[in-house]
Amino acid sequence: MITFKNLCPDEPYLVLKQRYDNSIEAGQENIEAISISSFSNVTNEVNSRYVNLKFVDKNEFIFFSNYNSPKAKEFESHNQITALIFWNSINCQIRLKAIIKKTPKIFNKKYFKQRDKKKNALAISSNQSFEIESYENVKSNYNKSINNDDLTDCPDHWGGFSFIPYYFEFWQGSELRLNKREKYEFQKNEWKKSILQP
Ligand SMILES: Cc1cc2nc3c(=O)[nH]c(=O)nc-3n(C[C@H](O)[C@H](O)[C@H](O)COP(=O)(O)O)c2cc1C
Repeated sequence: MITFKNLCPDEPYLVLKQRYDNSIEAGQENIEAISISSFSNVTNEVNSRYVNLKFVDKNEFIFFSNYNSPKAKEFESHNQITALIFWNSINCQIRLKAIIKKTPKIFNKKYFKQRDKKKNALAISSNQSFEIESYENVKSNYNKSINNDDLTDCPDHWGGFSFIPYYFEFWQGSELRLNKREKYEFQKNEWKKSILQP
């Protein structure tokens, strides 16, 4: 589930919330899954991965991850991302473009405190995406963390990322192939809406 807080009254956010409510009603699974694509200035590569979108707070989208992970390094080297949602229960794709940044430490600490302790043990014990000898070692690091660490204390290497989209595209699939595409771009302090051909 995605938590919507202080809903932004701008049209693309209202459309997003309406689609979200329709997908919930249609029984959408993994509704919080969102693909984030980044670019690395260092390797000149583009990279995508799913994360769980936890909050849409006013116009800010927030997910959590490891600050030493490849994605974090890529966001540092190039802060422009694209994000992608597909809610198959209502046949809707949402494309976003945004600039990404870290959430404040104080926010991370507060969120970590009230988070599931088993998830926190993993966040503390895993050097996300670094190579390790075996899965046994992953389990042993995790168990050490469960038994020894303060699972309410947010480590410096973990926290949120937030982005405010300047571009939304809602693609609504249709059985007749007459797919409907609506684009919103934030230009000169307002949202410009356009219709795109399928
Ligand atoms: C549905 C789904 C949700 C995920 N949610 C998260 C998440 O919220 N945070 C996270 O760090 N990784 C999440 N992952 C794992 C990432 O896709 C990825 O494997 C990991 O973050 C390492 O990415 P990186 O090497 O590009 O930094 C999720 C994977 C899936 C399939």
